[in-house]
Amino acid sequence: MSHGTTGRYLRGVTVGSSGGCGNIAWVLTSQLCKHETLISPALLGWSDRLRPTWDPDGSDPKPLIVHRKMWEWLFIAEALSERNMLVRGRRGLGFGVGREPLVALFASFGPEIVATDLDPARALAAGWTDSGGEYADGIEGLNDHHLCPPEQFAARVTYRNVDMNQVPSDLGGFDFTWSSCAFEHLGNLAAGADFVVEQMRCLAPGGVAVHTTEFNVSSNDQTVESGATVLYRRRDIEALVKRLRKLGYAITCDFTEGNTSADRHVDVPPFSETHLRTTLGEFVTTSIGLIIEKPSAGSGRLGRFLGRGERSVG
Ligand SMILES: C[S@@+](CC[C@H](N)C(=O)[O-])C[C@H]1O[C@@H](n2cnc3c(N)ncnc32)[C@H](O)[C@@H]1O
Repeated sequence: MSHGTTGRYLRGVTVGSSGGCGNIAWVLTSQLCKHETLISPALLGWSDRLRPTWDPDGSDPKPLIVHRKMWEWLFIAEALSERNMLVRGRRGLGFGVGREPLVALFASFGPEIVATDLDPARALAAGWTDSGGEYADGIEGLNDHHLCPPEQFAARVTYRNVDMNQVPSDLGGFDFTWSSCAFEHLGNLAAGADFVVEQMRCLAPGGVAVHTTEFNVSSNDQTVESGATVLYRRRDIEALVKRLRKLGYAITCDFTEGNTSADRHVDVPPFSETHLRTTLGEFVTTSIGLIIEKPSAGSGRLGRFLGRGERSVG
């Protein structure tokens, strides 16, 4: 690899925000949350677009907040943008959206969005309404920061209750799907992995899915296997990657860990301003982002090769 950027690989794409050469560009691959990626120009650009969510009066001199949640949102936005998904004419489907700003952000670029989350009774029972910041129960509250002009938001975004453990069969033909910090909450490791496989049905040929979840940095052996939040080990992700590839989907995963002081800091209460890793039970956790591509109808051997430019492969 002559290119100095970790977590990216060369593949054939319709060039998006990160530029490139002709139809070939360096694009993000599935990877762990790292400070290096967070402060890359591409993600900084998205951070600026999301500034109203973390710096409402625009007075904060920081270029971004060093938080893995922010990394997840910026990673998803960049992965979709550089694959030319955030444009008019595309259709996107978000799962477990809570009150995340991505719905409004994506709609502001032109795609039609179907935003989904648990039904209110189950969200209440599971405690998702407690914090006031993690569950929207409808379209209101998904454009709080005015990331999308209201009339465009109203025209492009619809909302629906969907249980990620039972993805309805009529949800199909989307160009992209995404979820942030959601599939680790489906009861156990297998349920989350099944969701990732199942939701690929919602994509049209050539579509792309981007999902973030919890990654166990401290053990590839013991982990939290069931409960309100589960923790995926490297071996769980490798098994999922294998399963997805067997079904014909393209996914490449770079398990390189960040090695800056921000990456190494394990943030525990009282939380600091550097929160890329924290603990869950006895384990250290960070985020992982998965990018999974469904082959386009006419993709031949060259297309498959370009779509799988391998790096440190999981
Ligand atoms: C930690 S919050 C994340 C919210 C949002 N994605 C974000 O990044 O801020 C987890 C979300 O997953 C949703 N969720 C949990 N279990 C779910 C299920 N079985 N089906 C659909 N959504 C679910 C919750 O309602 C909540 O909105």
